[in-house]
Amino acid sequence: MSLVKILLTGATGYVGGDLLIDLLERTSEFEVHVLIRGNERSSTFEKLGAKVVVGSQDDHDFLTKTASRFDVIISVADSLDARTAKAFLLGLEQGKQQYHHKGILIQNSGSDVVLENTEGEYATEKTWSDLDVQAFNELPLDAQHREVDILVTEYPQDKVTTAIISPSNISGVGRGPYNRLSFINLAYERAVVKYRKPYVVGKGANIWSSIHIKDVSSAFTSVLDGLLKGTADHGLEGYYFVESGQASMAEVVQRAAEVLQKKGLLEDTNLIDMPEEVLQDPDVIPAYIVNDYPGFAKSTLGGTSRVSGDRLRKFGWKPKYTDPLGAVAEEIDVLLAA
Ligand SMILES: NC(=O)c1ccc[n+]([C@@H]2O[C@H](COP(=O)([O-])OP(=O)(O)OC[C@H]3O[C@@H](n4cnc5c(N)ncnc54)[C@H](OP(=O)(O)O)[C@@H]3O)[C@@H](O)[C@H]2O)c1
Repeated sequence: MSLVKILLTGATGYVGGDLLIDLLERTSEFEVHVLIRGNERSSTFEKLGAKVVVGSQDDHDFLTKTASRFDVIISVADSLDARTAKAFLLGLEQGKQQYHHKGILIQNSGSDVVLENTEGEYATEKTWSDLDVQAFNELPLDAQHREVDILVTEYPQDKVTTAIISPSNISGVGRGPYNRLSFINLAYERAVVKYRKPYVVGKGANIWSSIHIKDVSSAFTSVLDGLLKGTADHGLEGYYFVESGQASMAEVVQRAAEVLQKKGLLEDTNLIDMPEEVLQDPDVIPAYIVNDYPGFAKSTLGGTSRVSGDRLRKFGWKPKYTDPLGAVAEEIDVLLAA
């Protein structure tokens, strides 16, 4: 049986890096290539067993030409740029027509598509099920990821088979070769570690669905297997939220504060409203977010996104890590050791 040729993007990042490790465990089935910017990190991936394609996601002709050589693209790096998604779709379509490749796109997205900015003061009640395809029509077109989600889910399925993996708030230390840490819980944890104060946005009453990074990777591979076998939902029905529970941000920060308190590094665990300067601190929020997306950090950290990954469960996928606070202590240890 010939190997399925997979191109993975975002492998230097948190989500793509962790997924890469699972894909590389299946070299008897998959030939795994990673698309990375610049040559400097190539040898790291080659040593792990991946083949490397060097190039920019901003060069769309290159993306189309590259995509036409693959059976499957797992696009993790960018879930906001429709031009990148279009270039991949076009290339996969050409590859299927001309070279009889399988023509499968698995696009990464995010449950912040349903984010409501509740400013940490409260949590909205609704939990969005991914089986309720009609409900997505209620979402504004400018909701995060929506443009790419629509393009990918509505693509003619005889040309390219498409699915969207939409993780909620991811936690846990990743296994990839470069970035191993997430964003939302980590921003809170970075703040409490640096300032030795349990900062939350508002009261921290907002709630996020959450998922462990290893369960995100298993969701990607489950859907990949299903698409290859022809058993997984795809196209308009191929939207998969990934979650294993829900927690308020107050609970996350409270746990982080208790971990530090046990280590004798923090006395008072009473939550404090996060000052604006902490939200602008590049040690807490990545500088590109502060500079290029003003307001994004506060609305994300203080927002509510409650989703239910019913579609994956329907296919028998189960998360292994079900405690939404289970990774906090390990993440704090990594931050303290840095
Ligand atoms: N972390 C979460 O909790 C979470 C939850 C749901 C959805 N998501 C979504 O998942 C995606 C990845 O998140 P992450 O946490 O893995 O982020 P990350 O660790 O910052 O990784 C981002 C990756 O994308 C690559 N990248 C970004 N722009 C690129 C471009 N123009 N050309 C080529 N590569 C590019 C980066 O490459 P370089 O190393 O070259 O910069 C890196 O490999 C994001 O779109 C995010 O919205 C994340």
